[in-house]
Amino acid sequence: MMTLTQYLQSQASDELASTIDTLAKSSIAISALLDKGALAGIHGETGNENVQGEAQKKLDVISNDLLLDALTQNPHCAGVASEELDDISPANDQGTLLVTFDPLDGSSNIDINMTVGTIFSILPYPRVGSQATEADFLQPGVQQVAAGYFIYGTSTMLAMTLGQGVVMFSFDPTSQEYLLINDQVTISQTTAEYAINASNYRYWLDPIKEYIDGLVAGDLGVRNKDYNMRWVAAMIADVHRILIRGGVFMYPFDTKIAGKTGKLRLMYEANPMSFIIEQAGGASTDGVERIMEIKPSHIHQRIPVVLGAKEEVDYVKDLHAKAGILANGDPA
Ligand code: AHG
Repeated sequence: MMTLTQYLQSQASDELASTIDTLAKSSIAISALLDKGALAGIHGETGNENVQGEAQKKLDVISNDLLLDALTQNPHCAGVASEELDDISPANDQGTLLVTFDPLDGSSNIDINMTVGTIFSILPYPRVGSQATEADFLQPGVQQVAAGYFIYGTSTMLAMTLGQGVVMFSFDPTSQEYLLINDQVTISQTTAEYAINASNYRYWLDPIKEYIDGLVAGDLGVRNKDYNMRWVAAMIADVHRILIRGGVFMYPFDTKIAGKTGKLRLMYEANPMSFIIEQAGGASTDGVERIMEIKPSHIHQRIPVVLGAKEEVDYVKDLHAKAGILANGDPA
């Protein structure tokens, strides 16, 4: 079976291969810590003490530090932005790539021993030779040269796109290598499975209420078929399920918190997952626009997300258009 290293040697530039290899090595360290779980003293909140009386760090902080240290030492990496850090970290002026990451997506799942993962996005660095600033990161998702996620579930896996389809690897604990298990991941245009946190129903805009009402009504409603629902509360796991067996995932605009346009982050979650889903044959929107075409306004921007089976994503977009929603959930 082809290893990740062999795959990258044949499919990626040296710079990109080296950067993804750095991410993969960090993911193996994170996966090992997750395997040890409570025994590694990584559960609980920052500020707790472990059994040895040492200060505990939450695993999302440890994961962030591991990735940040490794990437800033990579000569090809010009700068790093993490969901966990307020500011970007400039790295090597001669680097040609920028990396954004969510070190542990779904972190509320750690203490209950459920799936979490690391999401990454790699952008070109336009100003080689100068120190990277936040403005350099504010590129629309269509500029991404690679995106992927390491999922720490019942096994550790990597799904990734370099812009020519989606490939999936499984981590082999014996050889400590990621091995290629699917060189062309594709998802169906249609589905009968959806993922949404329905407890937010009363905060949604009318098009999402109308859409979910239609799915819940099943074969008695406008869609004329029954739907099944799943929600892992970790986007990484919900997206992984879609890559494996199809579906549609949503974290739409809601009015729960004034001024917050959605929960998920454009640069750490929405863009990389949109790139992967589109490359697997699916679609992704904020309800109005293609997510990958949105110019970020700041690195921690939040955005509504609807992605997965094209037929469902287009249906949701049509409902927004009919309701006169113009952008990011703002009613006309
Ligand atoms: P975090 O990594 O901060 O725990 O956030 C996870 C995100 C996303 O992965 C998931 O889909 C969503 O939050 C779950 O939100 P709810 O708790 O509202 O269901």
